[in-house]
Amino acid sequence: MNLLDELNAYRDSGVYPMHMPGHKRNPQLTPLIDIYGIDLTEIDGFDSLHGAKGLLKNAMSKAAALYDSDNTYFLINGSTCGILSAVSSCVPRGGRVLMARNCHQSVYNALGIMQLDAVYIKPSQDAAFGINGSISPEEIRKALEEHEDIGLIIITSPTYEGVISHIESIAELAHERKIPLMVDEAHGAHLCFMPGLPASSIDAGADIVIHGMHKTLPSPTQTALLHVNGGLVDTEEIRYQLAVFQSSSPSYPLMAGLDYCVSLLSERGTELFERYVRRLHGFSQKMKSLSHLKILFKGRDEGGEHPHIYAFDPGKIVISAANTDITGERLKEILLEKYKIQVEMAAGSYVLAMTSIADTDEGFDRLASALIEIDSELSDRPTAEPVYCPVLERVMPIYRAQSEKAELVSFSQSAGRISGEYVYSYPPGIPLIVPGELISEDFIDAIEMMQKQSVSLTSTYGGMPTKIRVIEPA
Ligand SMILES: Cc1ncc(COP(=O)(O)O)c(C=O)c1O
Repeated sequence: MNLLDELNAYRDSGVYPMHMPGHKRNPQLTPLIDIYGIDLTEIDGFDSLHGAKGLLKNAMSKAAALYDSDNTYFLINGSTCGILSAVSSCVPRGGRVLMARNCHQSVYNALGIMQLDAVYIKPSQDAAFGINGSISPEEIRKALEEHEDIGLIIITSPTYEGVISHIESIAELAHERKIPLMVDEAHGAHLCFMPGLPASSIDAGADIVIHGMHKTLPSPTQTALLHVNGGLVDTEEIRYQLAVFQSSSPSYPLMAGLDYCVSLLSERGTELFERYVRRLHGFSQKMKSLSHLKILFKGRDEGGEHPHIYAFDPGKIVISAANTDITGERLKEILLEKYKIQVEMAAGSYVLAMTSIADTDEGFDRLASALIEIDSELSDRPTAEPVYCPVLERVMPIYRAQSEKAELVSFSQSAGRISGEYVYSYPPGIPLIVPGELISEDFIDAIEMMQKQSVSLTSTYGGMPTKIRVIEPA
C-alpha cells in the first residue's frame, strides 16, 4: 500500500478525529476539491502570493476584514513560517527578545537563526491539571524594568491546552516602551467568534498575531494567517521575510481552502459558532456525572481550582485521570481501541481532545458516552504529582551553543554539562531544555519521572532518552 491507500483506508475506518486539523474531514464544511484539477502556479490571472496585486490580495483583504486587522498575510507553511518571519522582521541580528518559556519550538529556531538572546518568563502552573497557566503581566513588567534592550515580546496565548493570558495588559506594558508584542495565537484563530471570552489578541492591541487556521478551523493543514497592526512593525520587512521563509511555489489548493474558510466564517460564522457553543455546553452538562475523571472547566469543574488561568478556550477538552488507576496514555489507548476516538495527545495524567465547528453531534455524543462508561469502571488511587521541569541556568545563547563542538554523552551522567541540543515533549513541541542551558541533577530526575509517566520525549539529534549532545569542554 502507498501513502494514499493508507490515508483512504484510515478515512474509511470509522475512527472519530478529536484532534487537528479543525476541519475534521467533515465534507459539509469543506469544499470537495479535486486537488490536481486546481493545482496551478502563478499563471496569468491568478496573482502571485509574494507580490499580490489581484485575486490573492483581495483574498487577504477579506481575511483582514474578518479579523478586523490592518494587514493580513496568507501563510502556507504553517504558523512556523509566520513566526520565523515575524521574529526576523522585528529584531536585528544579535538583539534580545522577552519571551514566555512555553513558546513553540519555531520561536526558539528563530532565535537560533537570528542569533538572538532571550529573557524568559516562566508561565505559572495549574497544579490541579499539571499544565502551564497564564503568563503574568506582572512578570512581564518586572522583566521590562530589568532589561532595557528588548526588541520584541513573544507570548503564546492560548496554549496548546487552551489557556489564555491577559493580552490587553501585556500589550499596554509593551507599548509604554514602544516594544512590539507578538502573540502566537496559533491555537486560537476561532476565539474571536466564541462568546464570553476576553478580547482576541488583535483587539487587545498585539502588534503581530499568528493564527494557525488549520488547527481549530475548517482549513487545510499548513494554512495560517499573520496579522500586523499598529505602527511598530515594518510591513515591508514582513513581506520580505515571508518570501524568505515561505515556498516560492505556494500551493493554490491550500490557499483556496484557506480563502474558502474565511468566506465560510464571514457568511455563516455566527450560526456555526452558536451551534458549536451549544454542543460544547451540552457536552459539559453530561460530564457532571463523572466521579473520577475531571475535565478542565467542564462538568463539575467550575474553575475555582485554577487561580493561575486567566481565561480558557471552551473548545479544548482536557481530561485528567489524576488520582485514578489509569494514566493519561492508557486513557488515550482505551478511547481509541474501544471507542474508536483518536484524541490529540496524552501527557502524564491527562488527555487533550480538540474540538471545532466541524465536529458533529455524533462526535460529541461518542466522546461523552465513552468517558461516562470509562469513568464508571475506574477506582480512586493516589497518583504521582505532575512533574515540572526546573528552570535551568543559561550559560550561553542558543546560536553560540549550536556552533560549539559537541559530543554525545549518557543522559543520566550529563549533570554539569551544557546542552548542545533541544529536548522536548512532542506534542506540543515546547523545549524542556535549549542549547546553552546547564543540565542539572533536578532536570535529569524530572525527565526520568516524565518517562515513567509515558510522556513522549524527543531531542534534536534523536539520542534521548539515553544520550544527549553536550558542548565539549574548552
Ligand atoms: C503554539 C504553537 N505555535 C506554533 C506552532 C506551529 O504551527 P504549524 O505546525 O502550523 O507550523 C504550533 C504547532 O503545533 C504550536 O503549538
